[in-house]
Amino acid sequence: MKFTAAVATVVSTLFLASSAQAHVTANPSVAVSGTYFQTNFRVPHGCSGNATDLVIVQIPKGVASVKPRATVPWATTIQMVPLDTPIVTPTGTINTTVGSVTWANGNLPDNMYEDFGLQFKLPVMTGPLYWSVMQRCTNGAWNNWTNVPDAAGKTAGFPAAVINVGNATTTGGPGAGATGAPDVSKNGAGSLQLSGFAVLAAVALSMF
Ligand SMILES: *[C@@H]1O[C@H](CO)[C@@H](O)[C@H](O)[C@H]1NC(C)=O
Ligand SMILES: *[C@@H]1O[C@H](CO)[C@@H](O)[C@H](O)[C@H]1NC(C)=O
Ligand SMILES: *[C@@H]1O[C@H](CO)[C@@H](O)[C@H](O)[C@H]1NC(C)=O
Ligand SMILES: *[C@@H]1O[C@H](CO)[C@@H](O)[C@H](O)[C@H]1NC(C)=O
Repeated sequence: MKFTAAVATVVSTLFLASSAQAHVTANPSVAVSGTYFQTNFRVPHGCSGNATDLVIVQIPKGVASVKPRATVPWATTIQMVPLDTPIVTPTGTINTTVGSVTWANGNLPDNMYEDFGLQFKLPVMTGPLYWSVMQRCTNGAWNNWTNVPDAAGKTAGFPAAVINVGNATTTGGPGAGATGAPDVSKNGAGSLQLSGFAVLAAVALSMF
């Protein structure tokens, strides 16, 4: 009886994990306001069985000092856009910022995933920070992960990736999000996998 209930929990937890992995997610996805942060945008599948050959991550306004990971063999390029408010420094005026990063000429099979890494400085803010991720496949189809929750909290179609930004005091101190601590957000497939393993461990223990 106890065993059956535990197995049911394992099955439902693993099901949750696989449905969470169906979307593009940021890993890790819990960060501290105004800090430097590194995350990976995980593309979990292709388009109706076709491989992914192009990925574009749009940089939200206020995110600065963006540097992409050069993901071999993808061609990684940076697209600049004008800054709303140029930044005056002692050595000159900075007029542009990174608007998007493109990984092109890849071939990521539908039955595999890849992580597209970025490091950057977060704006001073709290709450969800949404990232639009465009995915193109070899059949010409696009999965544009751009939708954000409506007033009722429902997200239609392809949800944007999200980083949950908190104050240092509420998220465990400076750099809490970057230390590899388990991801506690709903959107982090990692946390669901961890909880799956935790339940499996609990099952194993309950058998003795
Ligand atoms: C690619 O997607 C098309 C639909 O756009 C589908 O008909 C085809 O079977 C897919 N190809 C592969 C290799 O899965
Ligand atoms: C930014 O724009 C200002 C005003 O047009 C110009 O003087 C400055 O040289 C520009 N900075 C750069 C780095 O291009
Ligand atoms: C997805 O985004 C790409 C790049 O901006 C655009 O060319 C394409 O038309 C979009 N497709 C859909 C279905 O929204
Ligand atoms: C974060 O800190 C700022 C400044 O102290 C405060 O105004 C804001 O309400 C805090 N936000 C949250 C979600 O705690």
